[in-house]
Amino acid sequence: MKELIDALYEGRMLSKEQFARLIEEGKPFDEYLFEKARIRANEVYGRDIYIRGLIEISNYCRCDCLYCGIRRSNLNVTRYRLSKEEILACCDMGYELGFRTFVMQGGEDLYYTDERICDIIRSIKQRHPDCAVTLSIGEKDRASYQAYREAGCDRYLLRHETAAEELYRKLHPKDQTMANRMRCLYDLKDLGFQVGAGMMLEAPYQKTEDLCEDLYFLKDLDPDMIGIGPFIPHHDTPFRDFKAGTLELTLRMIAILRLMFPYALIPATTALGSIDPLGREKGILAGANVVMPNLSPEQTRKLYMLYDNKMKADTGQGISGLKLTEEMKKAGYRIIVARGDVRRNHG
Ligand code: 5AD
Repeated sequence: MKELIDALYEGRMLSKEQFARLIEEGKPFDEYLFEKARIRANEVYGRDIYIRGLIEISNYCRCDCLYCGIRRSNLNVTRYRLSKEEILACCDMGYELGFRTFVMQGGEDLYYTDERICDIIRSIKQRHPDCAVTLSIGEKDRASYQAYREAGCDRYLLRHETAAEELYRKLHPKDQTMANRMRCLYDLKDLGFQVGAGMMLEAPYQKTEDLCEDLYFLKDLDPDMIGIGPFIPHHDTPFRDFKAGTLELTLRMIAILRLMFPYALIPATTALGSIDPLGREKGILAGANVVMPNLSPEQTRKLYMLYDNKMKADTGQGISGLKLTEEMKKAGYRIIVARGDVRRNHG
């Protein structure tokens, strides 16, 4: 097993069978794996941790992903959307707290026409020219993405969710196809966005082989950011009775991704922080280097429930939103006020 980890550390790709072994039987070697991942992250990014301010702009969604709490079929959700003024107020507050990247994330809400989105992007850029603007509002046609880009949007996050066709069909209704998802990701890259992709771990019906597909897909896409997190059931979805993903697998996958993608921005996600109170800190010690505290208004935050028990009380303090343990501070980890663009040209 150590040979597999060493091979990844040396920059070699593994076969799908080898990845499967590492994923399934890696537990006794996790400390070794995490250490290698930390060394690699340190070479590229030092012990710098980047923060992104997450603004949940809307929980209206035209999609019906079976796992997601804000799917359109869930009639128990109180729907909301933020106005331009509210979004700008979140950015202003975030700026004061030290954020230099704002991520506008939301369901696929048709209220936000291209015109409205572009207007918001331009306004943020005008007020905060030193900040990066990231969108995470789902699948659009290429012309829309191009308009966002021309308005000044720097980055786009769109998880591929799974690169295994059969699993994709089990997690989504018929009209949402993996082919379109991937078309979006390649369009975004082509248009010059810094792109984030990623998958849920231990989603219902997911097998180890499916995760191997994800690793191969990511290798091909070569995204700038890779966000992964455990599936967590939501009580108002068809997947309410499935088990949540584990800390163990999430940390192992973060470390594998760090070795495969030395330059990637890898967030320790909210979902990871939601299954373990120290989940995000553990994620960083497994090779992650980004955290995304929540800048959304207090009242709407509880309405953006993609899954049950989403971690609370995560903002306000901004930079101190992540409780770096004493151990981590001693190890030299620090939170950075900067846009934190991807570093492609490391040695
Ligand atoms: N558990 C974990 N993650 C989820 N997401 C959506 N629903 C869930 C869930 N039940 C993730 C998806 C989506 C991101 C915004 O949140 O991966 O892309």
